[in-house]
Amino acid sequence: MSDLPPAWWRDAVIYQIYPRSFADANGDGIGDLPGIRSRLPYLRDLGVDAVWLSPFYLSPQADAGYDVADYRTVDPIFGSLDDARGLVADAHDLGLRVLVDLVPNHSSDQHAWFRQALAEGPGSPLRARYHFRDGRGALPPNDWPSIFGGPAWTQVPDGQWYLHLFAPEQPDFNWAHPAVADEFRTILRFWLDLGVDGFRIDVAHGLVKEEGLPDIGQETSWHLLDVGESPCFDRPGVHEIYRSWRTILDEYPGDRIAVAEAWAPTLARVADYVRPDELHQAFNFSYLSTAWNAPAQRAMIDASLAANDAVGAPTTWTLSNHDVVRHTNRLMRDDQGEVAGKKPTAVDPVAGLRRARAASLLLLALPGSAYLYQGEELGLPEVIDLPPSVRQDPAFHRATGQDGYRDGCRVPIPWSGTTAPYGFGPDGGPSWLPQPDSWADLSVAAQDGVAGSTLTMYRDALALRRKAVAGQAPLTWQDAPEGLLVFDRGTDFRCTVNMSPAPLSPEAPGELLLASAPITVDGGTAVIPPDTAVWWSL
Ligand code: GLC
Ligand code: CA
Repeated sequence: MSDLPPAWWRDAVIYQIYPRSFADANGDGIGDLPGIRSRLPYLRDLGVDAVWLSPFYLSPQADAGYDVADYRTVDPIFGSLDDARGLVADAHDLGLRVLVDLVPNHSSDQHAWFRQALAEGPGSPLRARYHFRDGRGALPPNDWPSIFGGPAWTQVPDGQWYLHLFAPEQPDFNWAHPAVADEFRTILRFWLDLGVDGFRIDVAHGLVKEEGLPDIGQETSWHLLDVGESPCFDRPGVHEIYRSWRTILDEYPGDRIAVAEAWAPTLARVADYVRPDELHQAFNFSYLSTAWNAPAQRAMIDASLAANDAVGAPTTWTLSNHDVVRHTNRLMRDDQGEVAGKKPTAVDPVAGLRRARAASLLLLALPGSAYLYQGEELGLPEVIDLPPSVRQDPAFHRATGQDGYRDGCRVPIPWSGTTAPYGFGPDGGPSWLPQPDSWADLSVAAQDGVAGSTLTMYRDALALRRKAVAGQAPLTWQDAPEGLLVFDRGTDFRCTVNMSPAPLSPEAPGELLLASAPITVDGGTAVIPPDTAVWWSL
């Protein structure tokens, strides 16, 4: 869509920080805002455009901060509002933008509104800001399951039940109540006034429920990517909310944006969230869950670009986040449909990293905006052997839930040193999840400046992306043998990815810029090993 004005976010690389696992300044074992501030120069040097911070608001941490008790207060475990202001100011000084996470589908059960609702009792207008109902005899008001397992309803002592699509500590707001909509417009302005550049909208597809909360009529748990038609996800009414938010974002100078976490059944339905008068971006979970083979990848890339082009939005690309198995492990599975939750299995770490690096170079060559998840630039693997006693994912002990195994991608970052906590916090200090002994070799210090390290590959890729991969230049596929993906961006950049199990020897089209693994070029022919991506200048 070359007639659209350039805007920073259309081809931005945005790095997700999971605050509790990034850097711990005060030594309590939990990452915090001062820790993030101290590491911002690292992110500037990495070459990203922006950071997105998972929630750091006041919260009992029943779902690692996605249960917010006060949307305008920083939880003391993470720091203070002054730390947040300082972080935004420092980031801006370094040329980095800051997105914060907004959690509008539900609050914490410790939010003042929910406590009032409980205190006031059945029939109180204060209950109407959530979904309180009488049960059906001894049964909950309807048959909805929670995404984390078990029923989506919890009974309170006076007999009524309240709705929670996630954990019982996360009651769903009733978005049909005008006070809820007003409150969130005020929260948006609060953070925009503080200087943030935008928001990641948690469960953006969940806010509006079908009137009457009808049964879904099947015994099932919801799987985020194939909810199909559902009385509580992707209802048409959500779009009105985002139109109203867009007018607020547009009132502020400096291109403020919002990105939707919207799990909708088709790419076209996801694209509805990024129509010109709604949000700016939506995560492309369909791509994230696409299997590692050339036809599937090519088809999904085309379908993603087409769906977003149809509404004039940039496509986003992402391979990892705090809810899914890290792509070092996930891409080794044939079945990519189950993106989250299923117990991650052991993979050959060398092969897994090799494939992950190829996937990352492919991703960074695609037109649109790329979301990276902290630690992927170090090639961190999923930690699959955390003992149950240290796991904190609220779904873990609700065995039927979808997202029970998310701790393995949330293990704190290794920065330096040869023993845990590897510079995550002070020497010898704790870390809220244990780090594997093998992570000494994966630390930032161990990879910094080392030719061939994953960190060096990401830094090179991000620098080249600015220079050699034309911002919004369209993607054009080139003919290629089976198993090889070849596409150009504009006229002087090519990306070649070998997704077959055997080496392939295409013509070397120009100067080698970067490869995810060593390749040889001899007399105009390149030999590209399996699971290897190559960037060329034409
Ligand atoms: C989103 C978040 C996830 C959280 C859930 C409930 O999916 O990414 O971490 O558990 O919403 O807020
Ligand atoms: Ca701390």
